[in-house]
Amino acid sequence: GDQVLTDTFGRRHTYLRISLTERCNLRCLYCMPEEGVDLTPGEQLLSTDEVLRLARLFVAAGVDKIRLTGGEPTLRSDLVELTSRLSALPGIKAVGLTSNGLTLGRKLAALKDAGLSLLNISLDTLLPERFVAMTRRQGHDRVLASIWKAVELGFDPVKVNVVVMRGVNDDEVPAFVELTRHAPLNVRFIEYMPFDGNVWSDSKMVPFRELLSSVQERFGPLERCLDPRGEVAKNYRVPGFQGSVSFITSMTKAFCSDCNRLRVMADGNLKVCLFGASEVSLRDAMREGASDDDLRAIVSAAVDRKKAAHAGMFELAAAPNRAMVKIGG
Ligand code: GTP
Ligand code: 5AD
Ligand code: SF4
Repeated sequence: GDQVLTDTFGRRHTYLRISLTERCNLRCLYCMPEEGVDLTPGEQLLSTDEVLRLARLFVAAGVDKIRLTGGEPTLRSDLVELTSRLSALPGIKAVGLTSNGLTLGRKLAALKDAGLSLLNISLDTLLPERFVAMTRRQGHDRVLASIWKAVELGFDPVKVNVVVMRGVNDDEVPAFVELTRHAPLNVRFIEYMPFDGNVWSDSKMVPFRELLSSVQERFGPLERCLDPRGEVAKNYRVPGFQGSVSFITSMTKAFCSDCNRLRVMADGNLKVCLFGASEVSLRDAMREGASDDDLRAIVSAAVDRKKAAHAGMFELAAAPNRAMVKIGG
């Protein structure tokens, strides 16, 4: 029943994010240090069957949306198989993927056939040279090609995640909005968040209010759209444009009170809050022979420890957490 995933504040957790790998083929500035991060040895990562066992359990307990993340989830060889088996779970309404788009294009048709219904692609710049500076890798053209391929395959909307960093890519906000004129894209500007090793500073974070006014200065008043329950974005549209523009305001306007998310990371740890240091290993429990009832009890106890809200931005920046690449967003 629902009880297992309902916390002490009455929040029902219906959205599970599963990180499938810690590896990534980019090195985004805001996500990890240049040298990368220490990777968990392969045998300590969840297997296909372990991912499916946990997913089945969470879905039976009330999760109806699963998003696969990473690192870069397309680096995981069982991605298509997992997508199809997760889509087939009784009670699941949506299976999503968040990808950097680099090697996504060639797998996209198979993923769609496997039941993938929600697709978010990260792209922080429309300038090829800047892409190299921000991701420390090549491949801008392939990311763009993946976005257009996704549009062609009928993903609607294709969400484009743009982390805005002051002095780095904030001058491109209008160009990203312009992309929504003739395409079913939902461009989402994300406030830069602090994680281990990502050299965050508040001066590099562009607040939502500032982003909104710079967009409105250029495009006129935006139309406010509906925010579906549990989504982290505030949604807008330039009147007459086909696509839409959103803001993810983690730093200046937290949305903890509506939080419906839980996370299972590639190493099998359950994290009840993106910014919470408290984790519990579901992998260890499974490998020690835990029954489904045992697992439900562990999950339920962790969910009950979830706090009402995460700390303010400066406390967060000082608190230890994982590197973003090891959480999956
Ligand atoms: P939808 O299913 O489209 O709502 O996707 P999503 O926004 O949940 O997922 P995505 O992976 O595209 O993440 C977009 C941004 O939202 C990233 O910067 C995430 O780190 C951030 N984000 C996701 N979940 C949370 C959360 O629970 N709290 C906060 N503060 N930010 C989150
Ligand atoms: N702040 C905000 N968003 C981030 N992402 C990665 N690191 C950060 C950060 N420090 C985004 C990625 C991806 C999503 C999973 O999280 O761009 O779109
Ligand atoms: Fe890789 Fe995504 Fe992190 Fe960029 S944000 S380094 S694409 S995991």
